[in-house]
Amino acid sequence: MKKIYLLVLSLLTTTVIAADMDERKVLMLNEMQRHHILTEMRALLLGTQQILQALSEEDMTAVARHARMLGMEMAHKGENHLQSVLPEDFMQLGMSVHKSFDQIAVDTETLRDPKHTLALLSITMQRCVACHATYQIRTTGLPAEAETHPAHHKHH
Ligand code: HEC
Repeated sequence: MKKIYLLVLSLLTTTVIAADMDERKVLMLNEMQRHHILTEMRALLLGTQQILQALSEEDMTAVARHARMLGMEMAHKGENHLQSVLPEDFMQLGMSVHKSFDQIAVDTETLRDPKHTLALLSITMQRCVACHATYQIRTTGLPAEAETHPAHHKHH
């Protein structure tokens, strides 16, 4: 009994130590770039919550409206100036999320099937999960104006 307890404890400790090291790929950004990305992220979280709320009320018009706000239109507004500092993979994953929300809007309008929309949303959110598992942001510690060279690190 005691042995099992110790084994469980040591497994837990190992997990905690492993989780302590953030080994995700680093995006080295300045404060302004970080702020822009995190602001967009919070908008994605808010929009996703609004979609779920509308879905729970089966208000498919509202679902489509909230989904469209997270679509390619949002991408065109926000990310252009970040394109040169973000890795290609990151940009593609980001774009695929926006495209997915446009698809949710279209399908929701044409099919008006909450279950179908819910399934699409779940697939879309797998990409949120995948990106968060892969990347972290670190900052140069400099405000944007103080940077002589824009952050242009190669990521690996
Ligand atoms: C292409 C990559 C990518 C995708 C796709 C992505 N995120 Fe993020 N997100 C990030 C990164 C990088 C961070 C910063 C994580 C870190 O530094 O630990 C972040 C942070 C966040 C945060 C924290 C914001 C803050 O103020 O600290 C939220 C909330 C978030 N994402 C929500 C979402 C949601 C919801 C989706 C999907 C609808 C999503 N993200 C899709 C890359 C992505």
